[in-house]
Amino acid sequence: MDYIWVVLLFFSLQFSGGGGLVPVEETQRTEFNVMDFGAVVDGSTDSSNAFAAAWSAACARHGELSIMAIPQGTFFVNPLIFSGPCNGSVQIRLQGTVLAPADLAPFTGDKIDWIAFRHIDHLLLTGGGTFDGRGAAAWTCVLAKNCTTKRPTMVSFKFISNSTVQNIRLVNAKMFHAHIFSCVNLTLQQLEISSPEDSPNTDGIHVANSNNVKVADSVIASGDDCVSLGGGNTDIIVSRIRCGPGHGISLGSLGGYAGDKNMSRVLVTNCNLTGTMNGVRIKTWAKPHSLSVSDIVFQGINMDRVSNPIIIDQHYCPNQDCVHQTPSMVKISNVRFQDIKGSSSTKVAIKLSCSEALPCEDLQLIDINLAFVGKDNDEAVALCTNAQGRSLGSVVPSSCL
Ligand SMILES: *[C@@H]1O[C@H](CO)[C@@H](O)[C@H](O)[C@H]1NC(C)=O
Ligand SMILES: *[C@@H]1O[C@H](CO)[C@@H](O)[C@H](O)[C@H]1NC(C)=O
Ligand SMILES: *[C@@H]1O[C@H](CO)[C@@H](O)[C@H](O)[C@H]1NC(C)=O
Ligand SMILES: *[C@@H]1O[C@H](CO)[C@@H](O)[C@H](O)[C@H]1NC(C)=O
Ligand SMILES: *[C@@H]1O[C@H](CO)[C@@H](O)[C@H](O)[C@H]1NC(C)=O
Ligand SMILES: *[C@@H]1O[C@H](CO)[C@@H](O)[C@H](O)[C@H]1NC(C)=O
Repeated sequence: MDYIWVVLLFFSLQFSGGGGLVPVEETQRTEFNVMDFGAVVDGSTDSSNAFAAAWSAACARHGELSIMAIPQGTFFVNPLIFSGPCNGSVQIRLQGTVLAPADLAPFTGDKIDWIAFRHIDHLLLTGGGTFDGRGAAAWTCVLAKNCTTKRPTMVSFKFISNSTVQNIRLVNAKMFHAHIFSCVNLTLQQLEISSPEDSPNTDGIHVANSNNVKVADSVIASGDDCVSLGGGNTDIIVSRIRCGPGHGISLGSLGGYAGDKNMSRVLVTNCNLTGTMNGVRIKTWAKPHSLSVSDIVFQGINMDRVSNPIIIDQHYCPNQDCVHQTPSMVKISNVRFQDIKGSSSTKVAIKLSCSEALPCEDLQLIDINLAFVGKDNDEAVALCTNAQGRSLGSVVPSSCL
């Protein structure tokens, strides 16, 4: 209703011919700047209350669009939850840099995220600014196995709909950079995500239990998966991602716990992976939890010295804590690998290692060209176990399907 009114006002002003054009933006938008709520641009004073108050004001406002503005400069904030539902659409315009606590002390109890967005419809988070998770201390304690609390997700989006996150930098996460959970109609694009190659579990973007999520046009370097997709996802598109260093683009791990959900209709397209541990991967635990993964397409992927360019691994059990190594009960079907080119830094360029209990069905390898770039001039190979399907076009190394 409001929108139609604004449009009519705009056109009536444009075409009424009279003078005194009222700028529509001035009358319809209201900006809530964290500075006006007491934020301090020194990178060390706690501005959490100012951020929370600016959010509350923007979220409470009835109207077409409210803006929460975080200007240039460096701010420090403790764990924060931005929750809705709001009375109108809210845009967060992040231009500055927001710093997380350097240590883990504030992340006790239910503080599992540093910055959390919850239950919001029509959110736009943009502005070219940076969230800096200051993960160094957390990486050190993980590697020394003496962290005092669990590590938080850097930025989480839970129960968010019809929303866009774009043109934002996420750096140095203590754990995942972005965690998307139970979202619908969410686009993440033009993100720059960066943490060191040896930072543990710093997945770039993890999406779970969501529908119609697009991740596009982003550059991701991290110590774990660039993009990982968990259970319960449907209609996910990952496109034009530049990934590396990192562990590649992964569906999974799946089937790690009872109640993990099916995943279907995922498209990963036009991505470039450089020096990553894996390329495109489906990974399931060697545990007895039943679910299905179906209708998956990996298409138009360039691999540059990737360790496992194409891999299905249904025997994942890193800590040997899987009961008697039961076969995975995750059923994988209708997965297409198409137009995947470049180099593998290991001999096994294609590995389709499926469950003894539930063999993969309807796998397709179409137009694949992967060369081994090791020192001893060996040819790359493809290995299949419990994998059924077919190959089309030219497949190098020669297909095992
Ligand atoms: C929405 O507006 C109502 C009435 O103005 C107000 O009571 C409520 O707190 C607002 N909602 C939020 C989330 O601020
Ligand atoms: C954790 O272990 C590292 C290396 O052993 C040590 O330097 C550090 O002081 C320990 N930190 C805590 C909080 O115990
Ligand atoms: C998302 O937007 C559509 C209209 O575009 C609306 O019908 C729907 O209710 C919105 N979703 C939520 C969860 O608010
Ligand atoms: C998702 O977007 C579509 C198309 O705009 C809309 O019809 C649908 O209601 C949205 N779904 C939700 C749950 O908001
Ligand atoms: C991937 O590499 C190709 C060839 O160098 C380039 O044309 C394309 O733009 C790159 N895509 C991305 C998402 O970086
Ligand atoms: C999960 O997939 C299996 C196999 O396709 C199907 O039988 C089951 O109903 C699905 N579960 C849900 C909750 O959709």
